[in-house]
Amino acid sequence: MNIAITGANSSAGNILLRHLAERGDIQVVACVRSARAMANLPASPSISARAIDYADRDGLAATLGGAGCVVHLAGILVESPASSYQTANVDATQAVVDACRKAGVRRIVLVSVLGADPTSPNRYWRSKGRAERIVSESGLSGAIIRTGILLGPGMAGARAVVHAASQPAVTLLGGGRHSIRPLDVDDLSRAILRCCEGSAPGVAVYELVGPEPAAYRDVVARTAALMDRHVSIRSLPVWLARLGAALSGWRRQGGMTPTVIDVITSSEVVHENADAELGVLLTPLSATLEKLLPSQVKVAHP
Ligand SMILES: NC(=O)c1ccc[n+]([C@@H]2O[C@H](COP(=O)([O-])OP(=O)(O)OC[C@H]3O[C@@H](n4cnc5c(N)ncnc54)[C@H](OP(=O)(O)O)[C@@H]3O)[C@@H](O)[C@H]2O)c1
Repeated sequence: MNIAITGANSSAGNILLRHLAERGDIQVVACVRSARAMANLPASPSISARAIDYADRDGLAATLGGAGCVVHLAGILVESPASSYQTANVDATQAVVDACRKAGVRRIVLVSVLGADPTSPNRYWRSKGRAERIVSESGLSGAIIRTGILLGPGMAGARAVVHAASQPAVTLLGGGRHSIRPLDVDDLSRAILRCCEGSAPGVAVYELVGPEPAAYRDVVARTAALMDRHVSIRSLPVWLARLGAALSGWRRQGGMTPTVIDVITSSEVVHENADAELGVLLTPLSATLEKLLPSQVKVAHP
């Protein structure tokens, strides 16, 4: 099988590439936006890296052509002057879908987020909902995998947990009382591969989260315990954080906006986890947290 990955240098993409490199039977085209990103991709005889420009529809189609499935991973939660929800989440998805159709690629897998909804008042969830709609209405077959916080070495969410757990005291939004269902990014990789290998027509939507709901503060405390540490957790009211973010938002574009705060403090609720349907055996949360501990953290804080 041939797979092309767009946004291959994302944290999830890097881990997916490592999974694919271990399989000899899949050839991968890893698409990124810069030579610098290309240089940092995992090296393997089965992976060929390409620098792409999403605005170059012909070039993109030529790059994706020949893939049995395209995995679209490009997307952002935090905007910057260089990347907005519109460009990163919506326009990039449209470009990839258009290129798939032009190149005759029949299957696509989109990684989306719980809460994605094209009518959401929250700009992030709205943009992810619009990306989903582009894929659902594309005429391609494939899958949309909606997930919540992803945990794996190097992922932004994991870095935040490990950083908080490494402090003697930490202030969390709302005291970290919201409930999360962290998904091990290795499990996401397995789910993506299952979806690539599928052949059913149409676009299936799966909600896939980790096996155990836990308050964010408990995830931080459990991570600290794994490092033989104790972290004292204080609370910053969410309304106050939103107000501060709204005021500082006048001076800069992107960063920690009220939109982002609403996303990262909302509880992750799933009615039916798709693990069984996708044939993915979920990694226990404790095992996922163990994987996040870099040995230098243990050494630095004996
Ligand atoms: N991390 C999570 O907890 C989580 C949870 C739910 C869903 N997801 C989704 O899973 C996917 C991967 O997440 P991740 O955390 O691994 O991503 P990430 O590490 O933050 O990487 C973001 C990717 O998006 C690309 N990108 C940024 N702006 C872009 C633009 N304007 N046009 C095209 N590409 C752009 C980046 O390319 P450059 O390096 O060139 O900027 C990079 O490849 C994303 O779609 C994300 O929304 C993630």
